Amino acid sequence: MKQAVNLVVAIDGPAASGKGTLARRLADILTLRYLDTGSLYRATGLTVLNTGGDPTIESDAVKASESLDLSYFSAEDLRSEEAGVAASHVAFIPSVRAVLLDFQRSVAANPGAAFKGAILDGRDIGTVVCPGADSKIFVEATLEVRIKRRLQELMERGEPVIEARIRADMTARDKRDRDRSVAPLKPADDAWVLDTSNMNADEALAVALDHIRGTGPFKIVSLDDTC
Ligand code: DC
Repeated sequence: MKQAVNLVVAIDGPAASGKGTLARRLADILTLRYLDTGSLYRATGLTVLNTGGDPTIESDAVKASESLDLSYFSAEDLRSEEAGVAASHVAFIPSVRAVLLDFQRSVAANPGAAFKGAILDGRDIGTVVCPGADSKIFVEATLEVRIKRRLQELMERGEPVIEARIRADMTARDKRDRDRSVAPLKPADDAWVLDTSNMNADEALAVALDHIRGTGPFKIVSLDDTC
């Protein structure tokens, strides 16, 4: 069967919507290179904090984004609530987004010979980073469900959890992500919206695969032996 090459899948959605888990699992099944673009913003935010800067100040944030070294951070550092909040501040600054854009596009364009393409997750993949993506999924879930998921995630990692604080942080992050002037969080016009509020991770994966199977170039990819 003819194999398509360099397919691009865009997964967007708000914090704790389940998009990261979904994107990672789709990447494994479809042999796509995975890029969690939130980690770029999280690493930028942490670099600012670690160097005594302020994530809301443009010069501090741009300097950090230009000297980014992801290998400097552990996955644990990047997933902390502190990193998430700092990330949403630096992500609000258009010049920081411009610095990080080229890297994201280069991963989508050149995923590496071992892969059939790339899957990127974030907030603006379908609208700004890869507007020509072959498949776009916008993952949603209610605020209450997302708060519950984030509390669970933090508890499993042994981080202190105060529900009121998580609720306040998430509400403020949602607002910053959705209301910013450049690359706000919103579904692309041609995105498929997947509401995972009443689904577990396996159910979300199954419907996303069904959707992708029927989308454009994916019709010519042999998925029979992968799922
Ligand atoms: O997905 P996440 O929680 O790791 O993202 C952290 C922050 O980074 C989030 O508040 C918004 C920002 N972000 C963004 O603005 N654009 C992206 N493509 C990815 C993340």
